[in-house]
Amino acid sequence: MNKVAVIFWSGTGNTEAMAAAVADGAKAAGAEAALLTCAEVNDISAYDAVALGCPAMGAEELEESEFLPMLEGIEPALPGKKVALFGSYGWGDGEWMRTWEARCAEKGIALAAASVTANEAPDDDALAACRALGAALTK
Ligand SMILES: Cc1cc2nc3c(=O)[nH]c(=O)nc-3n(C[C@H](O)[C@H](O)[C@H](O)COP(=O)(O)O)c2cc1C
Repeated sequence: MNKVAVIFWSGTGNTEAMAAAVADGAKAAGAEAALLTCAEVNDISAYDAVALGCPAMGAEELEESEFLPMLEGIEPALPGKKVALFGSYGWGDGEWMRTWEARCAEKGIALAAASVTANEAPDDDALAACRALGAALTK
């Protein structure tokens, strides 16, 4: 069975709600999905696909105390896997996600689906997009 890791950081629950929807979408499409916080990530070699979720923090940056160190640890293992990004933002225009996508390209990480962003709490459309992202990672 296809194994999907959904790894997220969330301060106030918005990206966490998106992560749960990504995992639901992957399971509904027939995959085995693991919903993991940064601290729960160790060896990702067991997974065929990885969905990564982090809100816009700092000044259009990824969260730097837990998410970024975890990301730096797993990035060398991501090229060749199915990878997709998601996360919530507030007052910005999504710049953090564009910067994150460029970072993936620099590291040879091809994205398997369009990134999903939500302004603050994900609405029904954003949750549906998250479920579709999870499903896309199972193919
Ligand atoms: C310390 C901090 C920095 C933030 N920086 C940005 C930012 O640069 N751009 C932006 O659009 N939103 C920013 N936000 C807003 C969050 O991205 C937004 O509230 C998001 O929904 C939080 O997601 P979460 O509930 O998963 O933590 C920031 C929030 C905090 C607490």
